Amino acid sequence: MAKKILVLSGSPKANGNTATLVKWFAEGACSKGAKVEVAETAFLKYKSTGCTSCRACQKIKEYRCVINDEATPVLARMPDMDAIVMATPLYFFSASAQLKLVFDRMFSLYKWDNSAGTMKTPLKGKTLALIASAYEDVGLKELEKPFKITAGYTGMRFMSLLVPNAGVSGDIRKKPGIRDRAIAFGKKVA
Ligand SMILES: Cc1cc2nc3c(=O)[nH]c(=O)nc-3n(C[C@H](O)[C@H](O)[C@H](O)COP(=O)(O)O)c2cc1C
Repeated sequence: MAKKILVLSGSPKANGNTATLVKWFAEGACSKGAKVEVAETAFLKYKSTGCTSCRACQKIKEYRCVINDEATPVLARMPDMDAIVMATPLYFFSASAQLKLVFDRMFSLYKWDNSAGTMKTPLKGKTLALIASAYEDVGLKELEKPFKITAGYTGMRFMSLLVPNAGVSGDIRKKPGIRDRAIAFGKKVA
């Protein structure tokens, strides 16, 4: 069966390095028959600056974020996916704020029962993949950590494509070998 992949593309640069890596990734994944959806998290219209920690999602039966804006249907698609891909530029050795606007609202896809010490999520068994680029060759492994730990915590398989020395936005298109790596990564995730 065709794999379903949702990419959260988290750069404010519409044609920058992240967008280019996502395009190449999708090329590889689609060549293997996967269906790839991309949500550009910098360009969605939001009613809040990320998760408001209202915890209303913990009081309802469904795995749903109660804030109703353009991130809501993106979050609602996640349980139906085989893989969720987070794509981000390295911003001060961390993920972009634009990615975190949606990432943190994935809180609504977990149900914690603190008295029983249990956590349930429909994301269990899926793949969490990270695509990240940076100007330098410092910090990408550190950026990878929270994604890797989240995958482990959630029972997801973790994969990553880290691209150091990617230059400034758009430079990645001139760097030899990266397109092939991104296409191969797309095939691997698919
Ligand atoms: C706000 C900001 C912070 C950045 N911080 C880092 C950093 O800590 N380390 C680094 O190597 N590159 C850093 N960069 C460079 C980007 O990570 C890099 O150029 C990336 O490939 C850009 O991707 P994009 O075109 O999708 O935005 C930063 C760029 C910006 C705009």
